[in-house]
Amino acid sequence: MLELQPGATIVEIGCGVGILAGHFVKRGYRYFGIDKDAERIAAARAHTPHAQFEVGDAGSLSALKLPDTLTFYIHGVLHHLDDETCRKIVRDVLAIDAKVRLALTEPIRPSPWIRNPLGLLFAWLDEGEFVRSENHWRDLLDVKISDCSTRSLWPRWPVTMMDALVMNSNGRTSDDGRIPG
Ligand SMILES: C[S@@+](CC[C@H](N)C(=O)[O-])C[C@H]1O[C@@H](n2cnc3c(N)ncnc32)[C@H](O)[C@@H]1O
Repeated sequence: MLELQPGATIVEIGCGVGILAGHFVKRGYRYFGIDKDAERIAAARAHTPHAQFEVGDAGSLSALKLPDTLTFYIHGVLHHLDDETCRKIVRDVLAIDAKVRLALTEPIRPSPWIRNPLGLLFAWLDEGEFVRSENHWRDLLDVKISDCSTRSLWPRWPVTMMDALVMNSNGRTSDDGRIPG
């Protein structure tokens, strides 16, 4: 989705203990993770010394010294945050440069629930208070989605995940800015 070029730099927002950092480093990318939780950042530094990590709040991106890159990733963070905070984070990332690409991976609350009752139960039990339906995610990210797909993790995990690419309107968007269907 991010169409990373060899050696590209990626910033992960809300990197936690850096579980994903190793995947990027192993493939030859420069990885920079930020998280507001200092303990998680300390653990991340210990686990993946070849990546870079900083404590920082996604709600104040402009206060952070980010590397020069157009590529951002958020994995499993926005379902912990309310709509307004999510909009601000996405807006702030896209404001960094007209060509920024932001990939998001978040869990989806099944709708209608009958499609996946176990998924609904796990979504309800999730620590994140804002596991949204696919339509809610699309509305929340509205004009900025240029690519989106859902991914079942069954039988490993009953909650379906959504992968979305969010870009400014000069990116690959359809006429109304949304992905078709
Ligand atoms: C469920 S964890 C996901 C961690 C990592 N992305 C992963 O998938 O392994 C959510 C993380 O988001 C971080 N987080 C939540 N709000 C944040 C904010 N405003 N700024 C930076 N990090 C934040 C939390 O500290 C936590 O580490």
